[in-house]
Amino acid sequence: MKSADEILMNTVISTVLKAGDILRSGFRERFEVEQKSAHDLITEYDTAVQEFIVEQLSKAFPGAGFIAEEEHFSTKGDPLLVIDPLDGTNNFAMGIPQFCVSIGVFTGDKQPKGGVVYNPVLEELYHAQVGKGAYLNDERIFVSQEPLKDTLVATALPFKFRDKVEWITQLLMSVYPEIMDIRRLGSAALDICYTAAGIFGLYFEYGINAWDTAAGVCLLREAGGVSVDFFGQPYDPFTSRSLVAGQPTHVEQVLDLWRKSGFELKDKD
Ligand code: IPD
Ligand code: CA
Ligand code: CA
Repeated sequence: MKSADEILMNTVISTVLKAGDILRSGFRERFEVEQKSAHDLITEYDTAVQEFIVEQLSKAFPGAGFIAEEEHFSTKGDPLLVIDPLDGTNNFAMGIPQFCVSIGVFTGDKQPKGGVVYNPVLEELYHAQVGKGAYLNDERIFVSQEPLKDTLVATALPFKFRDKVEWITQLLMSVYPEIMDIRRLGSAALDICYTAAGIFGLYFEYGINAWDTAAGVCLLREAGGVSVDFFGQPYDPFTSRSLVAGQPTHVEQVLDLWRKSGFELKDKD
């Protein structure tokens, strides 16, 4: 017999797959796009997919609470489901096939239970239940065991916080001599999943939210990785503003580079 948590995770997975089908059906079609804020777009799919997910999961779990990106939809309950209906909106809007649906699953008091991230174009489903390992489709995944210098590192310029761009560029430049190269693919949730799968050696970003990271950091931990803020404190999706994620020694190496670089480290502002 399946446990209550297995039923919960299977229901979240089937909802994410259906949500991904909706995104795939709209990709590179004509749809409404608006400016959400400076440099940040919103499409009709962001809102439609969020409504779909919340409707499906509240039917399946009437006591559930939700934290979801669009209009900062938030209710209390158990399980607590942290939803990014479309992570990588700017990619989706521009026709770049790097976007996903992401749902982090927590208890009502915010203890992680699992995470599900789905790229509907590649049909790649990343999923993890706490204590049971992380998977890409049916394959177990693990963080990279290569030296940091032989890995690609994912990051983003803080495009919504333009006053922080110079600072993040400095942090990036202090890491750059120690790695193979940098990638900026445009979906934080997928960046973290790629780190969990050893595709990237490390990921760091400033200015992310719970819906970008909640599922990913759970997957990462199950794949043998760690997540901390820029100070090296344990990353909390609900309060931290910055994230460094990867294999423990890679994370420690980068934090050390930053400490030695003399650049200011900020998290809260
Ligand atoms: C964004 C993407 C992007 C990251 C931003 C996020 P959205 O999410 O994950 O890669 O750099 O910080 O806000 O707006 O596409 O859901
Ligand atoms: Ca997002
Ligand atoms: Ca989004």
